[in-house]
Amino acid sequence: MLGIIGGTGMAKLACLEISHRQIMRTPYGEPSGPLTFGEINDNKVVFLARHGYGHTIPPHAVNYRANLWALQSSNLSRVISVASVGGIRADFTPGVIAIPDQIIDYTHGRKYTYYEGIDRPVTHIDFTEPYCPIMRKCLLEAAKRADENVTDGGVYGATQGPRLETAAEINRLERDGADMVGMTGMPEAALAKELGLCYATIAVVANHAAGRETSAHAIRLEDAHAVLEAAMVRVRNILERAVELNGD
Ligand code: HPA
Repeated sequence: MLGIIGGTGMAKLACLEISHRQIMRTPYGEPSGPLTFGEINDNKVVFLARHGYGHTIPPHAVNYRANLWALQSSNLSRVISVASVGGIRADFTPGVIAIPDQIIDYTHGRKYTYYEGIDRPVTHIDFTEPYCPIMRKCLLEAAKRADENVTDGGVYGATQGPRLETAAEINRLERDGADMVGMTGMPEAALAKELGLCYATIAVVANHAAGRETSAHAIRLEDAHAVLEAAMVRVRNILERAVELNGD
């Protein structure tokens, strides 16, 4: 079974034939909503909307620990997350879909580890490759089969939000090597790694990052939403193929 975390623009999965929903409780509190169980073309899937089904939970307030714990408790080992981002690199224009391979974490004050508390042994997970190479490969193959163009790789800069960045912050992110900027990539990826989940992200560029191109003076959120809405049809095509490739 495959887990899918939907981000902004994907509060539900139209192609999912829902069997039931389940409210989950975890040692870390409640996830963003009940888990939605169902099938896509006869393949079992669990879906969770990261920001809640009514899109009411901002990035800094998402209970990432509960979300991933709940998914893992449903007996799955593979998770695909969908996330909208701003494009920093010149070729990351609105509508581009990328499968990032690296992350830089600029978030703060979030609950970012399961290894806390004095009763837990000190544990350092390896995070050299933040995304599961197997799942990345699967998403690239799924995109190929769906005939959707995606960019292989890219550095995701995870910012705190909920505000968007200043132009100077984006310049700094670029100097650091970030190709795209989003608000939810961390601690989600690190927590998935701590749980041993095979996790990768489909990043959808919704807008030029602050200070760039059409966002030179402001980011037009209505435009970003329109871009996301159109791109989600393509993301669903990729997900359908990815679910088939992960079928069990
Ligand atoms: N910045 C941060 N997160 C985002 C952006 C952005 O420009 N666009 C979509 N998510």
